[in-house]
Formats: sequence, C-alpha cells, structure tokens
Amino acid sequence: MVYPYQIQSFADYKKAYQQSVDNPEKFWASVADHFTWRKKWDKVLDWNFTEPKSEWFKGAKLNITENCLDRHLENNGNTPAIIWEPNDPNEKQRILTYSKLHEKVCQFAQVLLNNGVKKGDRVCIYMGMIPELTIAVLGCARIGAIHSVIFGGFSAQSIADRVFDAQSEFIITCDGAYRGAKDIPLKNVIDDALIGNKTVKKVIVYTRTRTPISMLKGRDIWWEDEMRHVEEMGIHSLPAVEMGAADPLFILYTSGSTGKPKGVVHACAGYMVYTNYTFVNVFNYQPGQIHFCTADIGWITGHSYIVYGPLSAGATSVIFEGIPTWPNAGRFWEIVDKYKVNILYTAPTAIRSLMGFGLWPLQGKNLSSLKVLGTVGEPINEEAWNWYNEQVGKNKCPIVDTWWQTETGGCLISNIAGITPSKPGWATLPLPGVQPVLVDDKGNEITEMEDGVYKGNLCIKFPWPSLLTTTYGDHERCRTNYFATYPNLYFTGDGALKDEEGFYRITGRVDDVLNVSGHRIGTAEVENAINMHTGVIESAVVGYPHDVKGQGIYAFVIYNNKEGDEALIRKDIVQTVSRVIGPIAKPDKIQFVNGLPKTRSGKIMRRILRKIAEGETENLGDITTLLDPGVVEEIKKGYL
Ligand code: PRX
Repeated sequence: MVYPYQIQSFADYKKAYQQSVDNPEKFWASVADHFTWRKKWDKVLDWNFTEPKSEWFKGAKLNITENCLDRHLENNGNTPAIIWEPNDPNEKQRILTYSKLHEKVCQFAQVLLNNGVKKGDRVCIYMGMIPELTIAVLGCARIGAIHSVIFGGFSAQSIADRVFDAQSEFIITCDGAYRGAKDIPLKNVIDDALIGNKTVKKVIVYTRTRTPISMLKGRDIWWEDEMRHVEEMGIHSLPAVEMGAADPLFILYTSGSTGKPKGVVHACAGYMVYTNYTFVNVFNYQPGQIHFCTADIGWITGHSYIVYGPLSAGATSVIFEGIPTWPNAGRFWEIVDKYKVNILYTAPTAIRSLMGFGLWPLQGKNLSSLKVLGTVGEPINEEAWNWYNEQVGKNKCPIVDTWWQTETGGCLISNIAGITPSKPGWATLPLPGVQPVLVDDKGNEITEMEDGVYKGNLCIKFPWPSLLTTTYGDHERCRTNYFATYPNLYFTGDGALKDEEGFYRITGRVDDVLNVSGHRIGTAEVENAINMHTGVIESAVVGYPHDVKGQGIYAFVIYNNKEGDEALIRKDIVQTVSRVIGPIAKPDKIQFVNGLPKTRSGKIMRRILRKIAEGETENLGDITTLLDPGVVEEIKKGYL
C-alpha cells in the first residue's frame, strides 16, 4: 500500500497543518478518499460542542473490516498481518497473513451470527493477548456488533458493571490467560461476574491454558466447536455488514473523576480514518515494516495501534502475550531481534522498569532493525528518554512522544518520526486537524508567558475525526464531562505547557484521575473500593510520585478499630480493592488517620493530602478554612 497522505518533510507538515485548519472538511475528505467506502459521504463534518455532536463523513456507508482486511487481499494476501509471540519463549509463534486473518474473522463472524448476535448488539470481550482476541474484535466489527473489550486485569465486579452498563448479552473469553509466571483464570472470573446476571445469553470460550473450568449448559460454548461447525458448513468468507459512518464501532470503559467508569464510544468512519492517518504519519510507517506496540488490546492504545491503525494500513503488527520482565528482562529485545522489528511503541513505565535491570538484558540482542521508537500513556522523564534513545535506539532512532486519550481515539499531539523535531519530555506539535488551546480556570485563553512558557489547562477547540461520539447510554454525561467545563471546548483533563516554538509538554491530570503505570484510575473508584471493607469508615486517595509507576496510590484511611494487626488490616484493604476493581488499582501506601482535612462544607481538601503524600510538610497552603486544622498535624506525623 502507498499512503498519498503521508507527510514527507517539516515543510510538508506545516502545509498539511495549515490546510487542516483553513479547510478541515477539504483536508479530511482528501485523506478519506483513499479508503474503501460502500457509499461516500454527503457531508464531511456536522458539529457543535454544545450538544455535543461531531458527525464525520455523514451519510457514508462502510465496514471497517473491509478496510483492514479485504482491500489488502489482492496484493498483500500473503503479507503477515499478525505476528504473535507467546508468553513462553519456548512455545511456537504464530503468523497470520492477511488472507488467513480474513478467513478467520469471517468464520468467527459467522459463529457470532449462528449464536444470535446482531448488528448493534454489545459483545464483551475478556481475553488474553492472543490472535483470537483480534479475531473476536474484527469478527464483531464484520457484522456490526459493538465490541467492549475489558482488560484482563479487571475483577469480576468491574466486568459485571461493564456488562450491565452496556446491557451485553454476549461474552467472549478464554479458559485462562498467561501473563509471565501467572496463569489467570479468566473464565472463572467471568463466572463470578455473571452470578445473578439474567441478560447474558451466550459465553464463547477459547481454550488457551487448559485450566479446569465449568461450562454452564445452554449458555457456555466452546470457540473451537463453533469454528469447526462453520468450517464444516464450508464457510471461508462472509460479506461485511454495511455500517453508517456514525454507527458505533466499539465501547471502551475508562476512568473519570466519578466512581463509575464511562463507556467511551467511537464511531466507524472517523475512527478508521484518523487511526490510519496517525499510524502512517506519526510512526512514518513504510510498507513491509514490522510494528510492535507493547500495549494490551484491552486499552485504547491496543485498539488503535495494534489492531485498527496498522491493519487498515496493511502493516504487520506484533502481538505479544507476555510481560517485559518474564522469564527475564530481555523479552522485548529478544522480540525485536527475532522479528526484526522496525517500530517499537511502549510506555515510559516499561522503560523505567527495564532500566532498573541494567544493560545485561540488552547484551547479544541485535536491535539494528529499529527505525522508530515511541512512547505513550504518561509523561516521560528525561532519564528514561535518554536511556531509550541511547541503549535501545543507539542514538539513531527518532522517539515520538505521543499524547492522546481513550476519548481522542488516536494521537493528537506528537512529533512525527524523522520529520518534525523532537524534544525530550515534550509531545511537541499538534498533528494536522488538531487545534489545542491552553486556558485558565475560567476558560480564558492563556496569553502571557510565565517563566518562558504558557501554562494552562489543555483544551481542543475543533473536532478531529476520532473524537468520542458519546458515553454509552448517557449522552449528558459526555457533555458534562468533556464539553461543559469550558464553553465550546473539549476539555482533556490534562495540564500542559507551551513554549515559544509552539511545542507542548503535558504535565499530567488536573482532575481526580491517577495514572499508575500508564493505567488510568479514578481516585473516587479506589475510595469506593476501600470503603467496601467492613472496617473502613472513610478514605481519601491521592497520587504520589513513584520511580517506576510514574504515580503510586496513597490512601488515607479512617478505620473503626485499629486494635488489630495494622499490617494485616492493610493487606485486607489491598485485597478488597483487588477484588472490587482489579490488581491494577491496589494502593501502594495506606496511612491510618483519625480524621481527614475537610472544609466546613464537608469537602475533602485533596490539595493538602497530595502535598503530604509527596512528602511535603511545610508549604501546605492555606489551611485556615479547614473544619479542624489539627488533623493536618496528625496526618503529617503519620506520613509513610
Ligand atoms: O494524562 C494523559 C496521559 O494519559 C491520559 C489518557 O489516558 P488513557 O485514556 O488511558 O489513554 C492512554 C493512552 C493513550 C492523558 O489524559 N497521557 C497519555 N499520553 C501521554 C500522557 N501524558 C503525557 N505524555 C503522553 N505522551
């Protein structure tokens, strides 16, 4: 495939950017022209941020899987679409060409049809990182079912909440998943999640770990049996269901400042065009290159840059089942060497954790195939950036620092590999189509520099094609969360700096959302989970700087009876959080306190707790408005 919209030089970027601002409709139509449409659009964009509404390619008809699969068959049918590297390096890898992936997706789509799944139905997918996860995702898209992938680290309760919120009648899972030395019993977790559930009709189970599981008659069916049945029917391909441009493609739940995760919805046409455009441009993808994104498909990064972006571009995408440090910390480098990976896209937390092992894991690994490195998910510190650049990229690979969010669908602010300048720790320039603006707390644009930079809350003032279309089942929530803080702006929840060259540096969330090892977790969610422990009266959770995770979780807890063994109570609380949300949300520190700093109206002053959690004891700011300023002294004394 060639990409006529691929940016070739810095001058070319500036031109594309200007065109995208001067005439966004013309700009995006010229990109969208290079996709397969059943019917082209009547109008490129219909939008307003008050409803909010941003409908891209209005009136168009398409199916994203025809763009990710069918259109590559004629010339690239034998090109590997997926290279799968198992958790255990001694197990054999699997390679699925575009022809094979097309066949499997069609067959699995038929399995879904055979089991009563229809266009618009919500299908929850809870699987490990195996090719069948991609097959399940694309199988849904083939028939217009809306997939909702749930990360394998979430608990039964989190799954139950998501199944309920999306009113899903279908689940796709595995008996278990391998992650490093662990064998995670996915099907058992699903069984727990479905206790008392009356809406789920079918659970399709793929065999991966051969963990003993129970199968409920009439509800639970084996993936392999169903596929065999389709094979026996002689089915090797299946026409894709025609979708409207604005029809939902998927739901992905993500944390916000309230206790309940939101179901971010992305629509077919805009998401397809934007993930493809950013994949091809940000990584400067050249046909034939091997792209390795280390994220899990359970997060947006995996959706956009393992599945939809690369496959719509006819690229070869590596899927890795395991973790970077098992059986040893050389796993990523081994994979790069084995498959001659050209593009490596990972999270700063992974880089920091691998740095900690020293240089021996890199020894003997040939990394000369690498051309481009990327980071995503959190700000990258200079030390990690330098290590990545020197030890992995050998000072010859551009590093793209890609800033974006579940809601944005694809990268919004990032340098373009080898084309636009990079600056360690800075995401740099907005991509074409993206119009950022920094505002103060009242929504006024920041016009004065402070210490050589503009500093404010990061908003976007014009839609781009993969902006979320709604939050599932609750459009008002979408409006209040993202479009109501500042009139006529999309508010990202992040703070940022801008330098005199127009480069952006993302400084982190300005709301009550934590970023732990690149995982997004709401403080209210963790507090709700802690409060479920019978002994807990009240809690307050904040983030604190953590060397590897970026942010750690610090919980201040009022416990009704501290007579018992404190270490044991802590362990119990951690267990509770793990059960309610999942292991990713476990608090790193739990400090027992007698009171929390509250205003007279009962609001917890998190600003003070955040400072204490950061180890700051002096400049806590104004504490005179507190109901009981005395609690602050006590909390300071108990700092862990
Ligand atoms: O705070 C920003 C941070 O991750 C948040 C989005 O999290 P999520 O929706 O889970 O998506 C992560 C993967 C796209 C943002 O609000 N973030 C993401 N990328 C960067 C970043 N912070 C700094 N630099 C980045 N490159």
